[in-house]
Order: sequence, then structure tokens, then C-alpha cells
Amino acid sequence: MELKGKHIVLGISGGIAAYKSVHLLRLFVKAGAEVQVVITPNGKEFITPVTLSSLSRRPVISEFFTANTGEWHSHVDLGLWADAFVVAPATASTIGKMANGIADNMLLTSYFSTRGKVFAAPAMDLDMWLHRATQRNLATLRADGVEIIEPEAGELASGLVGKGRMEEPERIFEVVAAALASPRQLKGRRYLVTAGPTYENIDPVRFIGNYSSGKMGYALARALGEAGAEVVLVSGPVSLPTPEGDIRRIDVTSAREMLAACEMHFPECDGAICCAAVADYAPAVCAEKKVKREKLDRITLELVKNPDISATLGAMKKPGQTLVGFALETDSEMENALGKMKRKNLDWIALNSLRDKGAGFRTDTNKITLLSAGGGTTEYPLMSKEEVARLMIEEIFISK
Ligand code: CTP
Repeated sequence: MELKGKHIVLGISGGIAAYKSVHLLRLFVKAGAEVQVVITPNGKEFITPVTLSSLSRRPVISEFFTANTGEWHSHVDLGLWADAFVVAPATASTIGKMANGIADNMLLTSYFSTRGKVFAAPAMDLDMWLHRATQRNLATLRADGVEIIEPEAGELASGLVGKGRMEEPERIFEVVAAALASPRQLKGRRYLVTAGPTYENIDPVRFIGNYSSGKMGYALARALGEAGAEVVLVSGPVSLPTPEGDIRRIDVTSAREMLAACEMHFPECDGAICCAAVADYAPAVCAEKKVKREKLDRITLELVKNPDISATLGAMKKPGQTLVGFALETDSEMENALGKMKRKNLDWIALNSLRDKGAGFRTDTNKITLLSAGGGTTEYPLMSKEEVARLMIEEIFISK
């Protein structure tokens, strides 16, 4: 991927994985990017600034001042210069400081001044990774818009085996390059995205729902927005903020409401991604008053089938419109996903297997296999939902 003319700040904090950052730096430089390395004082214990400045062809910045000349390094200028700020490795300490506004070195002051996209590739021991404080800080960073490039599981420097190994430089490069290489390529296009669960009312205070958090659909809306598209986000009940960008959010509760909003907006869109976990069945009647417990030892709910929103859009689809769905499967995954794609007249389907750890509901990560009606199959590794979304948008709407 070409990164000619792109400005990247590579932030290196003090961890063993710092040696891998040399390779990452080379990949950025080879792709044509200008790279400024900012290293924490601890980082220099793991990798020498001489190596980094030779490869980046720029002096490495570490301190606020150059000791012999008194020259002050402006983190504000650096923040404005950067199209992307990539912290790799991001130690537990640096992550904690980024999440909590502590700016006690150049890497951190530069981070707080950065207007471009920020990526962090954590590297630490497995217990540090799993610690509640680390996970809390990561959640804060994600909410702040930082893209976390998840570490891998494997043998760690401590000799322990588990999650915490920094992602390989090639993958980090791909994620950053995909984000930088495709800005605003979907300008003038409009897409519909359904997200979240639906709630089907039983009575005024109870409903049938599911555990969908809406994160995958919201990440897709964000990725489309970042690529310059206009997005109509039809959302079931979730507790997520609307992503930034040209995104019009329509809140709905039930499958029928979701269908009505989709039928209204799909005709004016270039495509739709059906990511919502729509309840397949709804109570045949919704009681007008709260169902009282004392009166009934046993109750039977009669359920009726909900409309299939993706199939309805599949039937409405006009030439030039692209329709994408998801398939959540527990067995015969491929066969079922291909069957769904055909039945619903979809152009693409993203297969989630519940057998994969870290995929599906209530996680920040996902693992998908993307199938196209044309016969293509792309299997992605476990990634953050933001990364999955960006790669899906790239594959489906940009590179095709
Ligand atoms: N979907 C939809 N409307 C429904 C049910 C599903 O739009 N009433 C969409 C989902 O958003 C997803 C796709 O259809 O894109 C597949 O959803 P999934 O739950 O995997 O499959 P179902 O069609 O519900 O089939 P089953 O539950 O039998 O696997």
C-alpha cells in the first residue's frame, strides 16, 4: 500500500517489543511515508535512537529539550503534522497515562496534541493485559477514538504463555495504511446500516431482546463516515454514542419499526449493511397493562415471526445497490452462510462463528470470514471491531 506524502508519528514506549518497531518503521518508510519517531526515556533502554534516526532519516525526539542547544521540541507542531500517530509498543504505563491525561514525556504530550487518527499496539505480560486497570484504560482509549490493535496470544518475554505479544509489524502496517490510504473515497455515496438488538414488547415493562451491543454496526457506520460516505444508521436500543461524521441516526425499538425505517431509506442509498441482531419472533400481542405475577403460576407467550429486514431489502434491491448481511452460526457455518446469502439476495455476507473465541456479541473484537456472491472468500484474524469494519468497507465498497 502506498503512503506517499503521509506523515506518521511512531511513538515507542519501553517494552521488549520495541525491537519490532524497527521493522514497522521500515515498512512505513518503504511505503513512502515520512516518519517521525518519538521515544519515551524507557524506550531508549530497549532500542537505540541511532538505529531509529538512521532508518527514519530524522532525529529521534525523546526529551522536551535538546540538552546541548536548549532547543525546544514542539509537541503541538508534531501533533498538527501527523496524519497518524502510532504507539507501538504501547506499554501498560503509557496506555494508563494516555487514558488519564498524564503528559509527562514527549510521546504523551504529542499524543494529546494529535488531531489525526491514533493507533495503539499494546505489548505487556498476560496478567498486566488482563488486569482490570488495563482493560478499563483500554476502554477509555477506545471511547476517545484510539484504535487498539489487539495483541496476540503466544509465548511472552517472561516465558509465560498468553495474550500480550505485540501484533506483528506487517499487521499493524496494514491497519494504519488502510486507514490512511482510503480517506474520503466514498464521498457522495450514501449507505444504510442497521445495528444493535431489537426489543419486542411483552407488556409495558418487559420485552424479548438479545445481547447485541451494537458495537459492530456502529464501527461500520464510523468506518463509512471516515471514508467520506453519508450514513443512515438505523439503531436498536444500545448505549453507544453516535459516531462522528455525516451520520444520521434513527432510533427504533422493534423489528417492525426497524423495517419501516429501512424501507423508507434504502431506495435512496447506494447500499446497506444489515448488522442488527433482529429478534426473529415477537409476542403475538403486547399486553396493555403490566402482567401481574400473583394471578398466574405459569404463562405461555405466543410468538409470531418477525419480518426479515435483510430479505426485504434483498427483494427491493435495484441494480447498482450493494447489500451486505451477517450470519451468526454455531455449526455448518459455510453452508448456512452461503444459503443465507442466496436466500436473502445479498451480495456479501460476513460469517461469524460462535465457535471462535472473541467473536460475536458483547466483545470488542470480532473474527469474520467475508463471502461474496461472486464466490470470493476472505478470512480475517481476530481483530478489534473497528479494524474489521474498516477492512470490510475497504474490501466491499472501495477496492472493488
Ligand atoms: N436479519 C434481518 N432481519 C431479521 C433477521 C435477520 O435483517 N428478522 C439479518 C441480520 O441483520 C443479518 C442476517 O439477517 O444480517 C442474518 O441473521 P442471522 O440471525 O444470522 O440469521 P437469520 O436470518 O435470523 O436465521 P437463523 O436465525 O435461522 O440462523
